[in-house]
Amino acid sequence: MSLNPLAQAANQAIQADCPVVHDLLSGIGKALFFPKGILTQSAEAKTKATRFNATIGTATEGGQAMYIDCIHSQFNGLAPDDLYPYAPSPGLPALREAWAAKQREETPSMGAQATSLPVVTNALTHALDLVGELFLDPGDEVLMPDQLWGNYRLTWGVKRQAKLSTFAFFNDDLSGFNQAAFEAALAERAGGKVMVILNFPNNPTGYSPTRDEAAKIVAALSAAAAAGTKIIAVCDDAYYGMFYADDCETESLFGRLAGAHENLLAVKVDGATKEIFVWGLRVGFITFGVKNGTEAMYQALEQKTGGAIRGAVSNITRPGQTIVLNGIKDPNFRAQQAEKIAILRERADEVQRVVYQEQYADCWDVYPFNAGYFMCLRIKGVDAEQLRLYLLDEHGIGTISLGSTDLRVAFSCCEKGDLAELFDRVAQSVRALQG
Ligand SMILES: Cc1ncc(COP(=O)(O)O)c(C=O)c1O
Repeated sequence: MSLNPLAQAANQAIQADCPVVHDLLSGIGKALFFPKGILTQSAEAKTKATRFNATIGTATEGGQAMYIDCIHSQFNGLAPDDLYPYAPSPGLPALREAWAAKQREETPSMGAQATSLPVVTNALTHALDLVGELFLDPGDEVLMPDQLWGNYRLTWGVKRQAKLSTFAFFNDDLSGFNQAAFEAALAERAGGKVMVILNFPNNPTGYSPTRDEAAKIVAALSAAAAAGTKIIAVCDDAYYGMFYADDCETESLFGRLAGAHENLLAVKVDGATKEIFVWGLRVGFITFGVKNGTEAMYQALEQKTGGAIRGAVSNITRPGQTIVLNGIKDPNFRAQQAEKIAILRERADEVQRVVYQEQYADCWDVYPFNAGYFMCLRIKGVDAEQLRLYLLDEHGIGTISLGSTDLRVAFSCCEKGDLAELFDRVAQSVRALQG
């Protein structure tokens, strides 16, 4: 297939400054471009068509977006133009700038490292899908911890036909991140191309590395890249900010990985969904960083990402983008977010107090947890799915079973006062099934 000249130009920009990033692109990634056409012509008209602007497929009236009252009366004071017109495919520029500023404020380790601007996505799932579209050909390998968000299988295993591999997330004694397993997995892939998933805080276990562990993870990836492995390191930061232990690393690893090595492209996938408690609003971001990345190279990657968005969903919800933008620029944003995180932390503390009690030692082991929305039990002597069904039928308690041993509990959606009873009923159920 011959490539569109715009794709060729983008590829040249990437190849010139970051040849490894060019190598890492999938076939589709190499073919993607941001089309000139209605969008570009409309953008030109926006600045020059001072008399009449008849370019774009929306409707206007009285110089603003047309609307009907039964829709508009539901929005509290937001202007029609901030709600109804299409957003640009890569997202509202003001939101992209504001999110970039937020990322830098939260990630001092980014230092002066240049990165792309965040591109707006239909929340994190879509950003992860874009990562697959841009960088995975069938048979390419994705290395993930064995405690993982199951949707990765659909997004990369099924949709991109990638080879999914796992390493043991925790040490055998469940004391923390299994650095040895991670390093061994990287060593086995030395010299090849691999996408590595770093999902901290982790779904399903609610674990985030300590500062020491985080430094070792970054060092291992940097060493593997220096030794010739070509790495796409995807930081799935869905639960960023929900840290409950004092030794947790509170910066995204993206900060250090973005400038780690020419052979390592860091991709940050983050968004409003869990961080700002707006699950249904669907606003997320994808951001790229690589050592020696230049503005021209990042623009080419942003154009390819914008082209992928244009070709799939055209653009992302404008009401969602406007609301997130206004929210994060509100002077009360940080204080209000902190209040809610404090509530989650109290629940996590309560779970810590309850689940390690000696009286439950016959029922489960506890996977380490110190962050995020969840925690996981390793159930003793009973199939986790059988337990899940029993809890539902006999106690009216909903949990998630994962594999044959693990039960995930989302303490994020349970009140603190209910948690002791919840786990006590889980224990009663385990014992009833153990017989
Ligand atoms: C680890 C992880 N990544 C990504 C997502 C997707 O988030 P979103 O709802 O923003 O698509 C989830 C949602 O559960 C998740 O747990």
